[in-house]
Amino acid sequence: MSTSENTTFSIRVSSTGDTFEVPANRTILHVLYENGYEVPLDCSNGRCGTCRTRYLSGEVDHRDTALSESERSEFLTVCVSRAHAGEVVLDLPPPQSTQPVERPIAVVEAPVCVACLNCVRFCTFGAARIDNALIGVGGIQGAAVIDADTCTGCGLCAAACPTGAIEMNISTHDSVIGTIHTLNTESVPELNTEVAEADVAEAPLSVMIFACPQCRDTTHEVCDAKSEQVSTHVQTRVVDVPCSGRVDTLQLMHAFESGADAVMVAGCQPGECFFNTGNLHVTQRVKRIADWLDGCGLERDRVHMMHLTPGDHDSLTNALDELTKKTGICGPSPLRRTASSPTQASTSR
Ligand code: SF4
Ligand code: SF4
Ligand code: FES
Repeated sequence: MSTSENTTFSIRVSSTGDTFEVPANRTILHVLYENGYEVPLDCSNGRCGTCRTRYLSGEVDHRDTALSESERSEFLTVCVSRAHAGEVVLDLPPPQSTQPVERPIAVVEAPVCVACLNCVRFCTFGAARIDNALIGVGGIQGAAVIDADTCTGCGLCAAACPTGAIEMNISTHDSVIGTIHTLNTESVPELNTEVAEADVAEAPLSVMIFACPQCRDTTHEVCDAKSEQVSTHVQTRVVDVPCSGRVDTLQLMHAFESGADAVMVAGCQPGECFFNTGNLHVTQRVKRIADWLDGCGLERDRVHMMHLTPGDHDSLTNALDELTKKTGICGPSPLRRTASSPTQASTSR
């Protein structure tokens, strides 16, 4: 539904009495965040139900696909739902602070943009466009710009941008790379020491898994269960990402560079991605990384794309076992023993 079909309405927070207008081009979520009210957020597009908020009165125009009819009599999703008119009274606690709450969005650095249109094509929310008034790289006319109100912060554009012109305000490129290196080299020192000191043939294999929000719980639970198995010959590290489509080829390379023997991306089943196509884009990148591994003299079996149904522990366990088995045949990565620390690692694109 386009914003031209929206009407202005107001919201009142019952705990404070604060009343705010929600213009046609803004969501309830935007207005709450701007005024310091924090609501849990995930998909930003009405599909997950994370932002459900109890309302006490009002004629709500439910626009999500997450809530059941019975839930809708009590809750609304503030990321997409609106009011037909008048006022909606929300049952929210007072804000923790008077500062606006930061929500994830993408930002373009115009002087680095080559106006390739990748971000425009990858953004399924229509948040990215080329502004001909901006000056791009080398003085070219036109550069990309992101509409902060429409942006869901999925990061698909940042992963697809060939020049690194797009940065996320949360889950930045450097923070993701830093997490990869920290997990592989620092945060589990006893395990890393075990890997470093073990005989190559005996060393536990190190598997890094990038998990999208929907697959995150299942991934952590399967990895926790693995770590409790005394006989296990695998150590897992999980990198949480806002969407599997946020994972770019450089991040996958850094996972290997920093010592992973194998890498898996856990994203939703085709057609189930909260951000529509993130899981399909990353599948292509995983294939490219498999080719890159071949080209480097490493084995393509070390990387795997897992399309997971959240809660399907068995399938993930089987996929992890299969990946470990194939990696075991390849042996520990030759990059592992020379893995650099986060401070030594180059994070430039
Ligand atoms: S972060 Fe996602 S929603 Fe925002 S501009 Fe990029 S692709 Fe579009
Ligand atoms: S993908 Fe990057 S370089 Fe291409 S238009 Fe968007 S911001 Fe510019
Ligand atoms: S964050 Fe609102 S429905 Fe997902």
